[in-house]
Amino acid sequence: MTEYFDQYAHDYDRIQPVKIEMYRFYHELALDLVPYSSDQPFRFADLGSGTGNFLSMVLERFPASTAMALDLSQRMLSASESKLGVSSGRVQFIQHDLNESFPAELTDLDMVVAFSAIHHLPDERKQAICHEIYAALKPGGTLLLADAMYVPYSEDVWRSGREREESSRSRRFSEAGIRQHEFDEHEEAKSGLDEASPERDRISTLDQQLTNLREAGFSKIDHVWHFWMEHLVIARK
Ligand SMILES: C[S@@+](CC[C@H](N)C(=O)[O-])C[C@H]1O[C@@H](n2cnc3c(N)ncnc32)[C@H](O)[C@@H]1O
Repeated sequence: MTEYFDQYAHDYDRIQPVKIEMYRFYHELALDLVPYSSDQPFRFADLGSGTGNFLSMVLERFPASTAMALDLSQRMLSASESKLGVSSGRVQFIQHDLNESFPAELTDLDMVVAFSAIHHLPDERKQAICHEIYAALKPGGTLLLADAMYVPYSEDVWRSGREREESSRSRRFSEAGIRQHEFDEHEEAKSGLDEASPERDRISTLDQQLTNLREAGFSKIDHVWHFWMEHLVIARK
């Protein structure tokens, strides 16, 4: 049982898309940029698939696609399996800590997606996993990476942005009927995680992450979108 994400799994779909202001937007943007036509068969892996929000969007839009969903949290995997219903038959669910090397079956993939998962890994593992993703993709394969990464801001702009985010988030919670203490309880569990916990946030810079992708061998790397610290990057093998 993980300390944070297993506990958060039952509330995740109610809270996370409201907590992260552009959550729905970048999922829809990434879906529109999946480089296949709707009837094409392809196989993809979702790293840190959570409750399967993007997984379910891809499976629905691309009915010939099949997937592997990897997550550390068994409760997240179970939530995604229930959400998918009959489509879960097209998915192999694997409980896996991304700090460990990929399972052998992650090979010959057309696409890898990693949304808000890589930022949990220490810097050296962030580098190594880019090499593993590259190796797991077929030539021409695509990585869709959406994650929190730092970019430099002037101090006053950053402060204004944080203040705006806090008030905007309170308003969003109130409109969605989420009480502040429900959010605070999960945040407290997160901030109490041990220094060594695989679930901790370990956010690095956008520059470092782009360097990791280049060094892994990705040739075409497009930084498609960002909003404050949230970024969407598409890389091609
Ligand atoms: C913020 S959620 C993102 C979930 C989903 N990708 C989304 O966009 O909604 C992070 C997910 O990564 C998983 N995770 C965190 N650390 C992990 C690790 N070391 N190995 C595998 N999964 C991990 C968590 O269990 C959680 O489901």
